[in-house]
Amino acid sequence: MKNKHLILLFLAVAVLAIGSCVKTEHLAKRELHLPANLFHYAVPSLAIIIPPGNPYVNGGNTGDSSTLDNTPASNPTTDAGATLGRVLFYETMFSLNNSISCGSCHKQQTAFADNTPVSLGYEHQKGTRNAVAISNESLNANFFWDGRVNTLESQSIMPVENHAEMGIENLDNLVKKLQSASYYPALFNAAFGSPQITKQGIVYALAQFMRSMHSFNSRFDQGAASGFSNFTPQELNGEAVFRSMRCNSCHGGNNLDNGGLGMDHNMPSGNDWANGGLDLGYPDAGLADVTGLSTDKGVFKIPSLRNVALTAPYMHDGRFQTLEQVVEHYNSGIIANPNLDRRLTQAFLDSTGTSNSNSMGPVQMHMTTQQKADLVAFLGTLTDNSFVTDLKFSDPFK
Ligand code: HEC
Ligand code: HEC
Repeated sequence: MKNKHLILLFLAVAVLAIGSCVKTEHLAKRELHLPANLFHYAVPSLAIIIPPGNPYVNGGNTGDSSTLDNTPASNPTTDAGATLGRVLFYETMFSLNNSISCGSCHKQQTAFADNTPVSLGYEHQKGTRNAVAISNESLNANFFWDGRVNTLESQSIMPVENHAEMGIENLDNLVKKLQSASYYPALFNAAFGSPQITKQGIVYALAQFMRSMHSFNSRFDQGAASGFSNFTPQELNGEAVFRSMRCNSCHGGNNLDNGGLGMDHNMPSGNDWANGGLDLGYPDAGLADVTGLSTDKGVFKIPSLRNVALTAPYMHDGRFQTLEQVVEHYNSGIIANPNLDRRLTQAFLDSTGTSNSNSMGPVQMHMTTQQKADLVAFLGTLTDNSFVTDLKFSDPFK
């Protein structure tokens, strides 16, 4: 018995030793490749890069026309700052065992979402939620599915530390670890005028990089000003279904999430939050975890539909594998529950949208097979291929 334990112990130590060798080697092999001339990240104003004509901006009773930018005066985006942010975003030293970077879960090829229902973090521990796709964060004012963070900068509540359960390093330790890499002093110097590695610099640079991740070049964006003259007949039909089923009452605005400054501050339960009729028992309390209100149970941030064809699986817990399943949920699967958003009630679909009553119960959309396929085709027009292949957002260690 005792021997058996000793052997096990020996094995465990051996495995750990081998493991750490491999890890160190792996780290040593990581080589940074940055362009001789910095990529351009800074934009003069959002108004310039958001294409005109989006029919869901100011559409119906929701949608937001705001092109306001959440960039604080203290942290304007610069090319050098975002370049540092890019390196940090792909820095595996962010995790306790040097194996995971932000980019491990927020993958560029899947529009900075994760392709597993719930991300695997440190030592393959599972989180409970599907990674939020990162794009157009400069228009956002609440972060995470429950909106528990409302700035990209604020140190104590920065997304980095909100990922602690996933083995993301605590910032104090991280500063010490980053000092072991040769490339950071020059990058910090270029970004912030001092070679010193600081917590604030880490947070600011990451925020600059994420804010520069604009995605406004989908076929939807390209066609918005011309009434979608670039769409196929099927996509055009899908766009009509999207409006007639009133998807844009929630997925409206520049980012198709009803977000933007102003509206996002309507917490709790503003127009950019909703209970989507997924559950009766609220296994994940969502916004209620932040507000403590029972009426916010099962209420989540309305996600942006940009690049949605690339960000499977879907919903806060990644329960749906395909867009067809999501559409079927809306078509026939909305679950009656006390917090169901009024925009998903039959009364709302039947009315002009002014009804505040959910007395008629969950919506039944009765879409035909063709309409469902058309709707999915329309969602495909929101894919921005240039965004997911843009080198300036890619892993500089590759
Ligand atoms: C282990 C996987 C994992 C890693 C690593 C990871 N994230 Fe996340 N990220 C998630 C998940 C899951 C969520 C959603 C969690 C929630 O809502 O409760 C999320 C949400 C976010 C959000 C909120 C976006 C929004 O619009 O609501 C931001 C910003 C973010 N992560 C940035 C980062 C940064 C920066 C890093 C690196 C320091 C990072 N993430 C590392 C999994 C990960
Ligand atoms: C009442 C507001 C509301 C309406 C109306 C609405 N949605 Fe949603 N949608 C949400 C919310 C909230 C979520 C996230 C739900 C969750 O995870 O709990 C979501 C999630 C989604 C997702 C998954 C996105 C992701 O990244 O996981 C898709 C796709 C989607 N909706 C499409 C549609 C379509 C198509 C329609 C119209 C048939 C529609 N929505 C109508 C609020 C709404």
